Amino acid sequence: MRLRYLPTFLCIVVVFVVEHAFAQADPMSFEREILPLLEKRCNECHHPAGTDGGLDLTQRSTMISGGDDLGPVIVPGKPNVSPLVQVLHEGGEYFMPKDGDPLEKDEIALLKKWIAEGARDNTPSFNDDEIAFFEREVRPILFDGCLKCHAGKDAESGLQLTSRHGILAGGDRGPAVVLGNPAGIDKVLENCRWDYDYGYRQFKVKIGRGNRWMPAKAGLKRDIDVVNAIHKAFPDVEILVDGNNGFTVETMIGFLDGIADVPVFWIEEPFHETVADWTRLRDYLVANGRKETLRADGEAKPDFPVLEELQQDHTLNVRLEDICGHGFTRWRQQLPRLTKEGIGVSPHTWGTALKTVYTAHFVGAYGNAPTIEGVTTKGGDVDFGENRIVDAQFHPSNQPGFGLALPAQ
Ligand code: HEC
Ligand code: HEC
Repeated sequence: MRLRYLPTFLCIVVVFVVEHAFAQADPMSFEREILPLLEKRCNECHHPAGTDGGLDLTQRSTMISGGDDLGPVIVPGKPNVSPLVQVLHEGGEYFMPKDGDPLEKDEIALLKKWIAEGARDNTPSFNDDEIAFFEREVRPILFDGCLKCHAGKDAESGLQLTSRHGILAGGDRGPAVVLGNPAGIDKVLENCRWDYDYGYRQFKVKIGRGNRWMPAKAGLKRDIDVVNAIHKAFPDVEILVDGNNGFTVETMIGFLDGIADVPVFWIEEPFHETVADWTRLRDYLVANGRKETLRADGEAKPDFPVLEELQQDHTLNVRLEDICGHGFTRWRQQLPRLTKEGIGVSPHTWGTALKTVYTAHFVGAYGNAPTIEGVTTKGGDVDFGENRIVDAQFHPSNQPGFGLALPAQ
């Protein structure tokens, strides 16, 4: 069954990249209006792997090739003589959908209108880059993360994420994407509001969409738009950016140029550390009024000799090794020395809510942390017990077991 959907995967790329595709939409769209209707009412019996009556209704070309008895089922411009329409009338020899309820009047009108307008398939086509991007980045996510619940007849909420038109047609609550209008930035701002109300006054913004999540140029632009929007909505919040090694030194500078009016408290892992790149970035920061911006690295695959070299002249001035991966013992061993050298520390806490509490207690004892990463989600298997955030400060509990409580059942 799955195979049936594979060819259409190629098309979903538009979700991210072809923002102008429908800017001057034709009166009727084959893939947004016609195909979803056929998928819903007809194509369980008329698809490439199961052509009842020899008929495949998933493509315009196969509608023209037609079925065993009636031949071509659309006659462009002539709805009333098109078998696709004729079979919809109750009492006819071939009433369709077979053994099902008749289509609604407006659904029939829609099919007629499409045929009257010439029965065109105006689906946009995509260039090689767009298809390659989709194949590399988007398809695996849908495949691994979504299709077990959003494919086939019992798809959750009626949402089929198996094809572009399925995504556009959407589920019970409407289209799953609106072309050219991702919910992205609004969603980010909504989350920021939650964090702000929780008590945070610094936001670490994950950037690097152009490395992983979107085509490079569009991703860089979105990073810039997101950070500018956050600064505008929360002017009293300090902004940290984490590139997750997704930039080159050039694209990082391009990003910073794009947010010229936003003070940046810290830059984390813009690229995998090299002396040349960090030195160049530091020089850029100093030359562009960002001398105070902290420069943090050491989380992902730390290159210790390079980190040590970079911190000698404070090109790098915050170390980030993970509180669990690097561990308490190694952190304890190196912390006094780093403190003496004037290098800040912020043991990385991403991945589990417990790590925030570990790091808070740890730097509470050892000091020298300009800030720590808060992952204070509620629920799951953690209850923060007596630990709390008051006025943007984490107040660790003095109870045993890092002050954590067992979750209330
Ligand atoms: C439950 C299965 C089923 C559904 C749903 C269904 N069909 Fe059919 N369709 C058939 C079968 C089976 C035939 C072969 C003729 C027959 O047995 O009646 C057929 C034949 C046809 C034919 C004639 C093909 C030919 O040339 O022989 C047309 C046209 C057609 N269907 C259109 C539709 C349309 C349009 C819909 C949706 C509104 C639809 N069908 C929904 C099962 C189905
Ligand atoms: C384990 C099952 C499961 C997985 C996996 C899953 N979903 Fe869902 N999804 C659901 C359920 C259940 C609903 C309906 C929730 C409701 O009605 O409140 C839903 C609803 C939705 C909706 C709203 C649809 C509407 O119109 O009501 C969207 C959009 C969506 N999912 C997208 C995704 C995406 C994208 C992925 C993969 C990244 C995904 N889902 C993975 C179960 C799943």
